[in-house]
Amino acid sequence: MIAQKPPMGWNSWNTFGNNITEELIFQTADIMAEEGYKERGYEYLVIDDCWSMKERDASGNLVPDPEKFPHGMKAVADYVHSKGLKFGMYSCAGVMTCAGYPSSYDHEFQDAELFAQWGVDFLKYDYCNFPENADCKNRYLIMSMALKASGREILFSACNWGQEDSWNWMRSIGAHMYRSTGDIFDNFKSFMSIFQSQLAHFCQSGPYCYNDIDMLTVGMYSQGNVAIGKPCTDGEYRMQFSLWCLAGVPLMLGADLRRIIPQMKELLLNQDLIDINQDAECRPPFLTGSRSVGVEVSDKENAIEPLEMLPDKLLTFIKHLSGNEFAIACYNLYEETQDITFIFADAGIPFASGYGFSMKDVFTGENLGVKRDYFTVPVPGHDCRVYRCRLVKCED
Ligand code: GAL
Repeated sequence: MIAQKPPMGWNSWNTFGNNITEELIFQTADIMAEEGYKERGYEYLVIDDCWSMKERDASGNLVPDPEKFPHGMKAVADYVHSKGLKFGMYSCAGVMTCAGYPSSYDHEFQDAELFAQWGVDFLKYDYCNFPENADCKNRYLIMSMALKASGREILFSACNWGQEDSWNWMRSIGAHMYRSTGDIFDNFKSFMSIFQSQLAHFCQSGPYCYNDIDMLTVGMYSQGNVAIGKPCTDGEYRMQFSLWCLAGVPLMLGADLRRIIPQMKELLLNQDLIDINQDAECRPPFLTGSRSVGVEVSDKENAIEPLEMLPDKLLTFIKHLSGNEFAIACYNLYEETQDITFIFADAGIPFASGYGFSMKDVFTGENLGVKRDYFTVPVPGHDCRVYRCRLVKCED
């Protein structure tokens, strides 16, 4: 069964756009297989838009561009499979892809059969150039059925950017993931607003069908196809990756894996964060509140001072994991360092309960021991802290 956990992999679009070749795919497959990505769960290698000729052949079949893919797509799929990975491709529900290549409107069953023959395991299905009077839901359903009829197990990655409130119906038409927003760009505002726009919808995302908030830009540093705005800092990439992990959404890498710098590779391979993303229960994060800076909170009594809310600037989340474990995360959206106070009462553990959390910092691996009532941590501007926690009974 596919998509029991949020799908993980790599997609060519964010860095390469139109500049895709067989060689790039082979090199990326080698790196995914040999440098720890596959081991951590990144298994789908997906070619996005711009892979085909501008015309179908005489039988109406899509034709891979022979300059980019001289050995055809079956050969690419075979290579990817030989590395123990799965192979993904791209088409579109409209009459042309976003970049102007032929797409699958009224060719759904023919194209799905061709993809199956090539050995495709994943289809990203876009929404550009969709006929005005056509029925969006029905068209995604048709491709879903065409994939089911193809005789091959193919993950259906529907990409209609949240049109017609995709979170309400994509699961019921058989999609395994559905893009819920417009495209990500490699800057702080873009990924933050994408995440925030879906916060209320993650409760409709879970095993077998996930809200897809787009491919990651972590490690791109404004190189490539989606570089708009101010380049991200390392702290911002920590925020992006950990937010995607907390949300339990697909983790599709977008950086050039041949050139990624060691600290970004380490971030993308962080086992604790990946475990949080892949947690079997796939519960959405709960926003426990935003707290002002430097407020005194009593750890003696069950007394908490009235606190000033600062919505959207200091965010604290708790995410329930399986096995009575939890992830706790603090995000500083200010530009300067701020103390963030996480109050356990807001996470359902008032002082009087007698319980606290034993906490491990997932970025440093440091064990912080048991905290009770609250903890305060200085978080640099545009950065975050994430902890994996266990409930512990405290001695009075
Ligand atoms: C957009 C889609 C992107 C990428 C691009 C290709 O519609 O959201 O993720 O696939 O098309 O042209």
